[in-house]
Amino acid sequence: MSSWKERYGEWALVTGASVGIGEEFCLQLAEKGMNIISVARREELLKELGEELTTKFDVQTREVAVDLIKDDAAERIEEAVSDLKVGLLINNAGFGQLGTFHKNSAQRDDEMIRLNCLTPVALTHKFLPKMVERERGGVIFLASTSAYQATPYFSVYGATKVFNLHLGEAIWAEYRKKGIDIMALSPGYTNTEFQKSAGVTEVRSGVLWTTPDKVVATALKNFGKKPSVIHGALNWLLAFSARLGPRKLNIVVAGNVVRSNR
Ligand SMILES: NC(=O)c1ccc[n+]([C@@H]2O[C@H](COP(=O)([O-])OP(=O)(O)OC[C@H]3O[C@@H](n4cnc5c(N)ncnc54)[C@H](OP(=O)(O)O)[C@@H]3O)[C@@H](O)[C@H]2O)c1
Repeated sequence: MSSWKERYGEWALVTGASVGIGEEFCLQLAEKGMNIISVARREELLKELGEELTTKFDVQTREVAVDLIKDDAAERIEEAVSDLKVGLLINNAGFGQLGTFHKNSAQRDDEMIRLNCLTPVALTHKFLPKMVERERGGVIFLASTSAYQATPYFSVYGATKVFNLHLGEAIWAEYRKKGIDIMALSPGYTNTEFQKSAGVTEVRSGVLWTTPDKVVATALKNFGKKPSVIHGALNWLLAFSARLGPRKLNIVVAGNVVRSNR
């Protein structure tokens, strides 16, 4: 079996790498021998992670501190890594906003759509063409279990995640015979900073909750095999039953689940 470096190339670029699921992608990809380009706003955290990756896994790293909401973010990243061959792109950075639609901040919704949807499209446009030329590479999009039915109280966030699910699955089909692996990853409730930044006041634990290491292990295990993957058997069952059940009931149940976990 070929190594990840042979399969995809030397460098993986991970957005939202300073904490949470993105940080875990960096750790597990570095463990597989890939060099890591980490992108987020908090430079200190990226530098600390870079040192950890070099010491633990003897890989090279590059830190790119950038606000991905800014219009020129994709250009700045492209410039910062113009001397490197990006073989894997992990479009991970994202945030949510909990609440009833009209009470939520319109500006934050706007920024969320930029970060969660426009930025992955812009970055994929930057790096996918070179992967196609090299006939190898891969891209992962962060969707969510909230992409499998409408999600009351996380309405705009849920819609951004449908965008990523459909985008990832659609371009999986376009590139599957061109040596490029594409996948949409759907975690369920995962303990990270996500809940705090989304305005979730009471973070619960329970059968639906998991940790970033498990989510990323699921992603890497299934990458190259499927257009999309849902982390966790129970999450998979809920998503599957959402396809079978009446749409109205699914939406009401999803809203109740969000309310009981906020
Ligand atoms: N946690 C969950 O329950 C869950 C469930 C399903 C899907 N997801 C998805 O998984 C992905 C990662 O989420 P997470 O749980 O790891 O969240 P997290 O712990 O809040 O991490 C978010 C990451 O995105 C970065 N980020 C946020 N705004 C940014 C900006 N404007 N510019 C650059 N970087 C920015 C943050 O870094 P800085 O603050 O340093 O910039 C951080 O590294 C997201 O797409 C999320 O939608 C999460």
